[in-house]
Amino acid sequence: MAADSRAKAATLDLRRRLLSSSCRLFFPEDPVKIIRGQGQYLYDEQGREFLDCINNVAHVGHCHPVVVQAAHEQNLVLNTNSRYLHDNIVDYAQRLSETLPEALSVFYFLNSGSEANDLALRLARQYTGHQDVVVLDHAYHGHLSSLIDISPYKFRDLDGQKEWVHVAPLPDTYRGPYREDHPNPAEAYASEVKHVIHTAQEKGRKIAAFFAESLPSVGGQIIPPAGYFSQVAEHIRRAGGLFVADEIQVGFGRVGKHFWAFQLEGKNFVPDIVTMGKCIGNGHPVACVATTQAVSRAFEATGVEYFNTFGGNPVSCAVGLAVLDVLETEQLQAHASNVGSFLMEHLSQQKAKHPIIGDVRGTGLFIGVDLIKDETLRTPATEEAEYLVSRLKENYIFLSTDGPGRNVLKFKPPMCFSLDNAQHVVAKLDDILTDMEEKVRSCKTLRIQPNSVKHPPGSTGPGCRAATGSRPS
Ligand SMILES: Cc1ncc(COP(=O)(O)O)c(C=O)c1O
Repeated sequence: MAADSRAKAATLDLRRRLLSSSCRLFFPEDPVKIIRGQGQYLYDEQGREFLDCINNVAHVGHCHPVVVQAAHEQNLVLNTNSRYLHDNIVDYAQRLSETLPEALSVFYFLNSGSEANDLALRLARQYTGHQDVVVLDHAYHGHLSSLIDISPYKFRDLDGQKEWVHVAPLPDTYRGPYREDHPNPAEAYASEVKHVIHTAQEKGRKIAAFFAESLPSVGGQIIPPAGYFSQVAEHIRRAGGLFVADEIQVGFGRVGKHFWAFQLEGKNFVPDIVTMGKCIGNGHPVACVATTQAVSRAFEATGVEYFNTFGGNPVSCAVGLAVLDVLETEQLQAHASNVGSFLMEHLSQQKAKHPIIGDVRGTGLFIGVDLIKDETLRTPATEEAEYLVSRLKENYIFLSTDGPGRNVLKFKPPMCFSLDNAQHVVAKLDDILTDMEEKVRSCKTLRIQPNSVKHPPGSTGPGCRAATGSRPS
């Protein structure tokens, strides 16, 4: 039976019987069955079209024909592992190297963001001879055991913090301890990292690495103050550690001004390791770690082979190359910059109109809208955000929330998202917010409709939030 000919209820029933409930659905009360994707649109089994503002994995657009064709053509000829010489892997490494600072000149290919961050951890430990890691609060770096340990977003709900993990505050100038009125929030937040390092060192701990998303997305679409990462890098390197930039959600031109989000920090800022995933393969499992010759040599010095069965196979590399081609030929980085500025501007106009919008922040097609209950305390408007997302779904728009308060609307659509799409989403957002305000004025309780987003107890924790469901993607 073709997968798309089964009734939605039957699919749901089978899924409930055969899959773990730990693997969650978007909109758990009324899940959506998606059977086709094209560009920035997804289609359900009844042919209804949804505008996708969530999927930063389908970077150049769902099922982009150039990417699909590249995979198909390579599949017809050969797919094998990287122990044979093949041009795709070296061409791909070369093309990626052209996007990065010269020092990041050695590449490892893998299959997922988690594998990339796990290898980054191994590289850092091998190079430094140290074990410990400093991470930002609320961060998520992957689902492997090693990464759950360095992901406060997850470990706070599990075994807790390991003795080798040290957590620094998010450099959030909207809701964190140092805000927009602070004279030097970059220095203040970097000093927090320095303090965390010193406290660890006083206990005899030694720092191998600092891990951070170049723009903390899981933490709520945070834009760190300029200068923060450079100062953190100084503190970390002084402690003998390496700086790892997780570009898994935010790389490949999404931020518009630059190809890599860490480049927002300026030309002189170069991480020791950059990890890539998600959007790198437009949905095909591809990931990469880029690092320096020195770090790579220390890893090689163990004499132990790094072998990854699927990593860097000819099909994955063909896909990665095709994604780079499309980014270039369709000028999607510049497009993200234009559409992102337009979206930011229109969302900022909504902020002036609707008091629930406390902050609009972002760059390129990485934008957060922080919803608040009150201006003074900036209390996260969690239920309102959830309600809004459910109403957008009724209007055929998929959007997710993130941040510790699950109150930040997170825009990270495929990069082909258009000006018309931006206008449409903002108009719907305006309608829904106006309607919500009218309901509040007329003292009607904001009630989430059945069949939209009411969660069974326990279903809203980390790992199930996007579109009130799910997680980092
Ligand atoms: C910032 C970040 N790093 C790492 C990962 C892990 O990537 P993957 O799910 O491909 O293993 C994710 C996934 O959500 C992520 O958002």
